[in-house]
Amino acid sequence: MSPIDSTNTFRLDGRVAIVTGASSGLGQRFASVLAGAGAHVVITARRTDRLKTLAEQLSSEHVVVSPIALDLSDPDSAGELVTFASERFGRLDILVNNAGTSSESAALDISVEEFRRVVEMNLVSPFAVAQAAGRLMTAAGSGSIINIASQFGSVGARAALSAYSASKGGLVNLTRHLAAEWAHTGVRVNAIAPGYFPSEMTEKVFSDAKVNKWVTRNTPLGRTGNEGELDGALLYLASEASSFVTGSVLAVDGGWTAV
Ligand SMILES: NC(=O)c1ccc[n+]([C@@H]2O[C@H](COP(=O)([O-])OP(=O)(O)OC[C@H]3O[C@@H](n4cnc5c(N)ncnc54)[C@H](OP(=O)(O)O)[C@@H]3O)[C@@H](O)[C@H]2O)c1
Repeated sequence: MSPIDSTNTFRLDGRVAIVTGASSGLGQRFASVLAGAGAHVVITARRTDRLKTLAEQLSSEHVVVSPIALDLSDPDSAGELVTFASERFGRLDILVNNAGTSSESAALDISVEEFRRVVEMNLVSPFAVAQAAGRLMTAAGSGSIINIASQFGSVGARAALSAYSASKGGLVNLTRHLAAEWAHTGVRVNAIAPGYFPSEMTEKVFSDAKVNKWVTRNTPLGRTGNEGELDGALLYLASEASSFVTGSVLAVDGGWTAV
């Protein structure tokens, strides 16, 4: 048996990826990891300046990173995004459905409009992007869709996260469903379920000592996630390393959902 070259296993040279929510936090990191592995990346979010700066930083002799500013709550945006990627690069191999939002209202107080806004952004919009991407990918006979869920897609929280938990729970089972419905086409659909990582969304968790204590107490590894600790999960699911994996939800949560 010849030795396995593990350095090449995770390379994505020449592949084309879309990362939503790439203007900050986890999405910015995901775009940089995919570009670092050799993929061309379409990055999207609403904040144009941030996207342009990131595209300039990540583009190189071998890799093109293209920004497109879109509001994913607009029903036409999913189609525009996938058309942009397809016209720019002529193919689409990887979709990272990362853009998301949250709400801090307790279940007794949250308005139905606010609940709906979170579900629209965290569940309906990722579906619309997956559907548009799925049309290209199923026709091509391959592709990897990675939905960014959360530990609160599998368990509830003693915190004001009803809309967030509902939306992420929906995204987790949408992942399994699309995996099953599209498996025969060669398109794989998986999810990463992160625990707490620093980002704009979790600023309060990291700045409020009481909340921080609650998080670390509930995390068996006793700490929050560090930048870079989702890189391996992303490359694994994006690359051929996971060629026999579909419908899986990869927890990267320090053990939150293990107990
Ligand atoms: N950080 C964590 O601890 C953690 C844990 C579990 C899961 N997650 C999930 O990871 C994903 C990324 O979150 P993050 O923590 O990195 O938070 P973040 O820094 O707040 O990033 C959210 C991203 O989504 C984009 N976005 C929000 N609304 C949008 C809209 N209407 N149209 C287009 N883009 C929109 C934002 O860009 P613009 O504002 O520029 O539009 C931003 O790039 C989310 O799905 C979140 O639920 C995060």
